[in-house]
Amino acid sequence: MLTRLWPAPARQMPLQGAYLNLDLHRQAGDGNILIYANYIASVDGRIALRDADSGEFAVPAAIANERDWRLYQELAAQADVMIVSARYMRQLAKGTAQDLLPVGQGPRYRDLRDWRAGQGLAAQPDVVIVSASLDIPGAALARLADRRVIVATTAGADADNVAALRERGTEVVVAGTDRVEGMALRQALTGMAYRSAYMIAGPAVHRMLLADGAIDRLFLTTRHRLLGGGEFHTILDQDLPAPVALALNAMYLDAEGEQHFADYRIGAARA
Ligand SMILES: NC(=O)c1ccc[n+]([C@@H]2O[C@H](COP(=O)([O-])OP(=O)(O)OC[C@H]3O[C@@H](n4cnc5c(N)ncnc54)[C@H](OP(=O)(O)O)[C@@H]3O)[C@@H](O)[C@H]2O)c1
Repeated sequence: MLTRLWPAPARQMPLQGAYLNLDLHRQAGDGNILIYANYIASVDGRIALRDADSGEFAVPAAIANERDWRLYQELAAQADVMIVSARYMRQLAKGTAQDLLPVGQGPRYRDLRDWRAGQGLAAQPDVVIVSASLDIPGAALARLADRRVIVATTAGADADNVAALRERGTEVVVAGTDRVEGMALRQALTGMAYRSAYMIAGPAVHRMLLADGAIDRLFLTTRHRLLGGGEFHTILDQDLPAPVALALNAMYLDAEGEQHFADYRIGAARA
């Protein structure tokens, strides 16, 4: 069970379904899209620490947990498309990242597969990969053969890399000049008739969307742990043009999981 602390009055509710009942795939008006991000962080704000063995940044085992993973899966279940970074695809190919993309794998999440079918959604969300370098390993792309894959890149992207991706059936869209830009990406996604996009990349892609006012909602799990460490990522680690205001939609305490879940509307109040 969870305690929903906000909006008041507080009440007990099951963890299962807490996010699935939000119907995020039906929240955008005609011709629009809802883009939402989700992170799990420690109380000292770490979403990833550098792993001494692999040298890669990864979500620390001290904060990752099954109860949060259930909510991660519920958010993924509501997505028409998922937004990932090329660096994630490179880590996936090296075996240093958890496979985040199949929704509802295994008997425990069968209800989410059934739910998608009942909602008329595709078995799996499509995937958009954000990349300037276009260094996206074929081995990682091969794991996504069951769905539409789109690479969002820049006008200056290497033409040979673009041609190689297209040859293997991956769509490439230009959404920016030197860097992919948030609003250009949002427009590209609405142009493809997507209504809900789940952003699961790290701080660089998050910043790109925030800086352009191109993201609508932030789900943030705070695990009640202090991690320390000098080499880490937070949900945002570069400058923004201006502070971004968040309006709290809901706050849940998960006493059993030693964490709380916050659901924010982005840009909904004055900064
Ligand atoms: N705890 C959590 O909830 C959570 C959630 C997400 C991620 N993480 C962790 O955070 C760390 C970083 O994640 P990440 O590497 O996926 O994310 P990221 O820092 O957002 O993305 C980095 C990559 O995305 C591409 N990119 C980003 N912004 C771009 C832009 N404006 N234009 C073009 N390309 C752009 C670049 O690809 P190219 O180099 O190909 O150009 C870049 O290498 C990872 O360790 C991950 O595990 C934690």
